Amino acid sequence: MSELKIKKIGVLTSGGDAPGMNAAIRALVRAGIREGYEMYGVRRGYKGLLEGDIIPLGTRDVSEIIHRGGTILMTARSKEFVDKEGQEKAKEIMKVYELDALVVIGGDGSFRGAYALSKLGIPVIGIPGTIDNDVSCTDYCIGFDTAMNTALEAIDKIRDTASSHERCSVIEVMGREAGYIAMNVGMACGAEVILIPEVKYSLEKDVYRIILEGRNVGKHHYIVIVAEGAGDAPEIAKKIEEFTGIETRTTVLGYVQRGGSPTVKDRIAASMMGIKAIDCIANGKTNRLIVEQGGEIKDIDIKKGMAMKKTIAAETLKENLRLF
Ligand code: F6P
Repeated sequence: MSELKIKKIGVLTSGGDAPGMNAAIRALVRAGIREGYEMYGVRRGYKGLLEGDIIPLGTRDVSEIIHRGGTILMTARSKEFVDKEGQEKAKEIMKVYELDALVVIGGDGSFRGAYALSKLGIPVIGIPGTIDNDVSCTDYCIGFDTAMNTALEAIDKIRDTASSHERCSVIEVMGREAGYIAMNVGMACGAEVILIPEVKYSLEKDVYRIILEGRNVGKHHYIVIVAEGAGDAPEIAKKIEEFTGIETRTTVLGYVQRGGSPTVKDRIAASMMGIKAIDCIANGKTNRLIVEQGGEIKDIDIKKGMAMKKTIAAETLKENLRLF
């Protein structure tokens, strides 16, 4: 057992839920208890923290959740916590509940919250969980693989009907300001066009012309993947139909992408990240972000992690799009 300066650890999930968050909670709680810590769940993210919505978690409380989507701790986006006042209040609440450290599972915004708490002297650990995969310091965020596979399954079905009707299908996928889901599912389904916020495009050259070139080499249906941050999918569909004369339909995949049972990749990443977070605390390392870099699960300093930038490999996208 480790030297126990930190005795009680709180765990919360924040921002958009992501498949695999439950697997991370399970790993944290069980690894934490194994190390001799008392584990607590903070329900409804930072909002719940400010309301003192805190419950003890034992090993059996996290049974039967490794395969479940969503988060048993529930999640929220808290406006109050964005301000310094809210963050100070969160610190007070942690004192009242005698929580010595906080593990935050979430995306960019959630990490900003954790970083703010660390600056107020609260030991924190961040675990990246967002289907968008847009946390800069890590190659991988929990939930990304499941969301991509869910989207891909839906797109394959849309392809069947698009092909039967010889239509163009414009499909909007999630990702906020990032194109990771769009780029990957677009490549995986062999889309004619992939539009992501990171790459400027012209409708004439990068959309209409590609579709018409496809038609001229004998294609009968077309798939256009639009990241939600890259434009208005119904509007793009309307313009495609007007310009090309090809019947075009839009599908916005929406929240279906956030649900469902996590894939093997997400269950393993979540479990390993949860264990790594407890390892850090047990070894006296706090204010760390757990990341996947070069296929390895590592921990990095939160300040350094927050300053990192990552770019999308847009070149891969260009290569892929000429495959018809
Ligand atoms: O961050 C995950 C995500 O699903 C984004 O892809 C999307 O833009 C956003 O959350 C939707 O958020 P909300 O649940 O608040 O509608």
